[in-house]
Amino acid sequence: MIKRRKYEAGKILLEVSRVVNSSMDPDEVSKLVLRELRKSTGSDHSALFLMDEPSERFILSAADGFSEDEMDNLRLMGGWEVIIDYMAKRKRPLAVDDIHKNAAFKFKKIPFSGEKFPMESFLAVPLETRGKVVGALMVSNRGRPGHKFIKKDKDLLLTLSNNIAIALLNARLYQKMKSLFLSTITSLTRAIDAKDSYTSGHSERVMKYTVAIGRELALDEEALESLRLASLLHDIGKIGVRESILMKPAKLLGYERRQMRLHPSIGARIIESMDDSDIIRRGILEHHERYDGKGYPNRLKGVRISKEGRIIAVADVFDALTTDRPYQKGYSKEEVFRKIQDEASSQFDPQIVSAFVTSYKSHPEIWSK
Ligand SMILES: [Fe+2]
Ligand SMILES: [Fe+2]
Repeated sequence: MIKRRKYEAGKILLEVSRVVNSSMDPDEVSKLVLRELRKSTGSDHSALFLMDEPSERFILSAADGFSEDEMDNLRLMGGWEVIIDYMAKRKRPLAVDDIHKNAAFKFKKIPFSGEKFPMESFLAVPLETRGKVVGALMVSNRGRPGHKFIKKDKDLLLTLSNNIAIALLNARLYQKMKSLFLSTITSLTRAIDAKDSYTSGHSERVMKYTVAIGRELALDEEALESLRLASLLHDIGKIGVRESILMKPAKLLGYERRQMRLHPSIGARIIESMDDSDIIRRGILEHHERYDGKGYPNRLKGVRISKEGRIIAVADVFDALTTDRPYQKGYSKEEVFRKIQDEASSQFDPQIVSAFVTSYKSHPEIWSK
């Protein structure tokens, strides 16, 4: 039996590390842990609580095995918080065979009795990192007279909690960093768009359009993520173009156009310093290339242009042409929709154009500003 439990813990940890490595999605990690934990201990439910830092309260993060009614009742009664707070203060696992008769909970204000309270026996262990309780794992049963959680269940939960606390915190940290990174980049692109007062919001709209086309092409999440960044940053090189050119309220002259046309290369150089940035760098560098090889800066042709570059090109032109300029009123969406189709195989990759057409028709809300 001990061997079996050790095997179970090892198996779950292996699965967890696989999910952590492949997705870093804390929700997926929690779901997997709870499902496996419930199976291995033969419990009716399992739940994970994490400390909400600003309020220092334990919040239910994920649960498995509860019916919707049971979840509602537990939330209403607040019984969970009482249990977890009690355990977190003691910093020790807590096993209770029958909560309705347990002395520790008798005097709490929560009605741990009656049919509505869906738990009778439970086992909870703290998730600790650096001596601080940051959450809890819990397995519980609906009311099985005489049921006791045994030492082996506790050992399994403890083995898992030690490792899972770290995996979950890493996954949460990663998500935080990612959203911090994205919001930093967004403010940066807003600053660039603001330099050119006629293109306010351009980068974010191009990102929206680009992702819509990417989804139509059935790109996976990782590819969409690169596309999101590349499109948000596609004009970042404008930071190196003089304001008098960016803000010029008229058509650009020859040398001004040449200056302006440096922005993809400047942007690519800025991004070069980022790790693993080649896809993003190429998306930025190649967003003004043309499918027929007449674009800039490198006159690349066809599929020699990166997919990211080819997708951003369509999204960029859609936004540029539908936006009013001081010297030129924007075209209507329908006109631009036709123009882009007319340019399939000359300016744009026909496959990308057909993905654009499908998205435009099936999700008009995305393509209206
Ligand atoms: Fe551009
Ligand atoms: Fe652009």
